[in-house]
Amino acid sequence: MTDSTIESILQEKRTFPPSADFAAAAHIKSLADYQALYDRAAADPAGFWAELAQQELDWFEPWTQTLDWQPPFVKWFVGGKLNISHNCLDRHLATARKNKAALIWEGEPGDSRVLTYAQLHREVCKCANALKGLGIGKGDVVGIYMPMIPEAAIAMLACARIGAPHSVVFGGFSAEALRDRLNDAQCKAVITADGGFRKGMAVALKPQVDKALANDAAPSVEHVLVVKRTGDAIAMVEGRDHWWHDLQPKASAHCPAEPMDSEDLLFILYTSGSTGKPKGVVHSTGGYNLYTHMTLKWAFDLQETDIYWCTADVGWITGHSYIVYGPLSNGATTVMYEGAPSAANPGCFWDVIEKYGVTIFYTAPTAVRAFIKMGDEHPNARDLTSLRLLGTVGEPINPEAWMWYHRVIGAERCPIVDTWWQTETGGFMLTPLPGAIATKPGSATKPFPGIIAEIVDLDGNPVPDNTGGYLVIKHPWPSAIRTVFGDDDRYRSTYWEHIPPKDGQYFYFAGDGARRDEDGYFWVMGRVDDVVNVSGHRLGTMEIESALVSHPAVAEAAVVGKPDDLKGEDIVAFVILEGEAVPSDALATELKRHVVSEIGAIARPGEIRFSEALPKTRSGKIMRRLLRNLAAGQEIAGDTSTLEDRSVLDKLRGGA
Ligand code: PRX
Repeated sequence: MTDSTIESILQEKRTFPPSADFAAAAHIKSLADYQALYDRAAADPAGFWAELAQQELDWFEPWTQTLDWQPPFVKWFVGGKLNISHNCLDRHLATARKNKAALIWEGEPGDSRVLTYAQLHREVCKCANALKGLGIGKGDVVGIYMPMIPEAAIAMLACARIGAPHSVVFGGFSAEALRDRLNDAQCKAVITADGGFRKGMAVALKPQVDKALANDAAPSVEHVLVVKRTGDAIAMVEGRDHWWHDLQPKASAHCPAEPMDSEDLLFILYTSGSTGKPKGVVHSTGGYNLYTHMTLKWAFDLQETDIYWCTADVGWITGHSYIVYGPLSNGATTVMYEGAPSAANPGCFWDVIEKYGVTIFYTAPTAVRAFIKMGDEHPNARDLTSLRLLGTVGEPINPEAWMWYHRVIGAERCPIVDTWWQTETGGFMLTPLPGAIATKPGSATKPFPGIIAEIVDLDGNPVPDNTGGYLVIKHPWPSAIRTVFGDDDRYRSTYWEHIPPKDGQYFYFAGDGARRDEDGYFWVMGRVDDVVNVSGHRLGTMEIESALVSHPAVAEAAVVGKPDDLKGEDIVAFVILEGEAVPSDALATELKRHVVSEIGAIARPGEIRFSEALPKTRSGKIMRRLLRNLAAGQEIAGDTSTLEDRSVLDKLRGGA
């Protein structure tokens, strides 16, 4: 965040209470109702969730134990059997929802498609049978590397239906990043498309899969299933590659959902941390189903007639929880959009809202800021009166962007639901319940019922109101990360050891700094670890550094975030070159391109700064705090006494 953003968040005092009309019709109608739910859940979390799990989900077999908490490992609804694909599809077919639109898809070059619950169920069953025909079964991990097309959701639900955990890899990741993820999860198959459309251009995907699999570099992958989307010519490897349009029509539309244990692995989703390669966050079935269902229902006040649109990509947790599973489990109509905001199409989001009469709209602050820049005339020229609730996620929203969203998009009528959560949390943790909790611009307000959040110091002691500290969660919740795939030690050290347990109390360490105000509202300030958040995308500085040093001209690199008005943060890389190499603009461009090819366009550094040395402690640790100051053009703040060589700072100040 920029200094002015932090300043304006600290100064923010405005509150926006729910309107009487909104509150009267909402699921949770008053602060007293929220407080009663919160208190009930805090007094008996297991009882609270058990009651909801009984009420809201179908179970093939009941559980025998609601919560098994053996810190830091948690299990929910132990022994219970269910299938999330059944809860998202089959159970709605016996109701009036059978012919309701489940998925509305808007493709970039003007394509569109609507699938009712009955149609989506049929497609999912066929895909499930096609996968079975390839020998994929319960426990086989399937990689999904897709554009934003209905087949992405169909593939996820088909995997869930047969008990094959999916590992969705965002379509913007490079072949290298894809290969690492396929190998880590030991994927047996990959579902992809020839390509997709992004900002009006065809972007190839299957060639990236070919590159990832070349020279047997991902030997666990036996099959590749390919959807034809762009029609661009691609190579098909005999025996390995199969066209979706060949297998899907031949497959039977009858496929009973596999009874899954509540704790069976539903999916792996890779995300960045401070150290090492991206980690596979493990989510299991029952708790995840329940938590995404309940949070969407209450925080977005989902009603039967809503047309709900989340603009995320299915490659991120937001797409998993709140484009696919949460909405469909609730029997809602979910909109999926292949496009992205661009200067060439400044009205694209507002066109979709007008075309489908979207009532609930969920996007990221970075998109809001981009639209502010494009001008009010674009939303003003569209009919946005269908909207009744606006959501935001991914990074702190600056009060200016919040107010614009409220005024220009929400016509001062729609509550703004700022949801703080993470890949690891599976669902919203801090969020207003819009009929109950007054909002304040820049605050994700209060914990969802059942979430015991606190701001503490490194010893686990709560800090006073309005004092910065570490955001922690003190009781397990149903959709919590179960472990890091294949690495329990990393799970333990990343989330549970930063703040050591005290008197039997464990602290889930979120990695975010925050404060709580005198009204009990949480204000999340951003990451406290070596993670940068660029346009709401989470990247580990170390991943980008590894990509840079894999270039022959680079000896050493240090990456930090720099405040950016549009993206929230931008990436600045300090680079020391190998002996022969000479700094130049051409080399900087080449290094940026190299990072894109190693990770993907989302990791492209905004700036490369060549330097002769990096500020290090005597024990050789790079002092990133100083680099962050330098990148932001600020004075060096804080203690520099541990710096090994003070002249390095002067050299860096001079820049290159
Ligand atoms: O720093 C917080 C920020 O995004 C991080 C989680 O990133 P990821 O796992 O990719 O999930 C993003 C979508 C859930 C958090 O640690 N973050 C997310 N939402 C907010 C936020 N920061 C402030 N306010 C939010 N509403």
